[in-house]
Amino acid sequence: MTSVIEIDLVSATTTRPSAAMLAQMTSAPVGDEQKNEDPTTCALDERVADLFGMEAVVFLPSGTMCNQISFLVHCRSGDEIVAAANAHVVASEGVGAAALAGAQMRPIETPTGIFEAADMVAALRRPRMRSLRSSTVSVEQTTNRGGGLVWPVETLSALTKAAHENGLATHMDDAHLLNAAVASGRPAKDFTAGFDSAWIDLSKGLGCPVGAVLAGFRDFIEAAWVWKHRLGGALRQSGCWPQQISLR
Ligand SMILES: Cc1ncc(COP(=O)(O)O)c(C=O)c1O
Repeated sequence: MTSVIEIDLVSATTTRPSAAMLAQMTSAPVGDEQKNEDPTTCALDERVADLFGMEAVVFLPSGTMCNQISFLVHCRSGDEIVAAANAHVVASEGVGAAALAGAQMRPIETPTGIFEAADMVAALRRPRMRSLRSSTVSVEQTTNRGGGLVWPVETLSALTKAAHENGLATHMDDAHLLNAAVASGRPAKDFTAGFDSAWIDLSKGLGCPVGAVLAGFRDFIEAAWVWKHRLGGALRQSGCWPQQISLR
């Protein structure tokens, strides 16, 4: 007899927790996440810091919160964020950067969602004293509305170099980072190198019901923790959420 397995490929968000994951969630050692006392979340944090090759990480309820907290830390009110016009941060987060951080988007038109360092430099505001401050560049790996394309490591290196030379913080919306790693055969940290902040979504294709992990330098993550508390993203027994993910 032939058995039929139905796989819904409409969206990465249609993945469901497996039976093993659900079982693990009910038996996970847990504690108070706000006090860094949830052992399961702490173990997850360590794995993601290693995956990204970054100093520190913080667990958050969603990818949108990772993006918005990053902008709250990187930007001052009146700043501008350079991003692809079709990026999730521009089109799908309730104008969060403007509403929360007071920063407006400087969208770059690119059907693929990928742009070059030169495109970013051309979009920067000058002179800064009399104008907006271009403070952050945000890229999306893989490009969701761009068709799931992978930003090449070389393009990212040139972009982060140019951004830092121009005083910008570099942010990567890595909702689908592991897709890029698998598709290219490169370790995830090759893509996050040179970024001041990056995050991974556990509910996108990894089967977790909720959760995302934001990574960066230690002082960035300390500042992110303040916003996590302010926005109500500080949690309690989060260890029973994001179990059994296979981060390669
Ligand atoms: C590229 C990208 N960024 C951010 C998000 C937001 O993630 P979340 O649904 O966890 O808030 C999504 C969700 O689909 C996404 O595709």
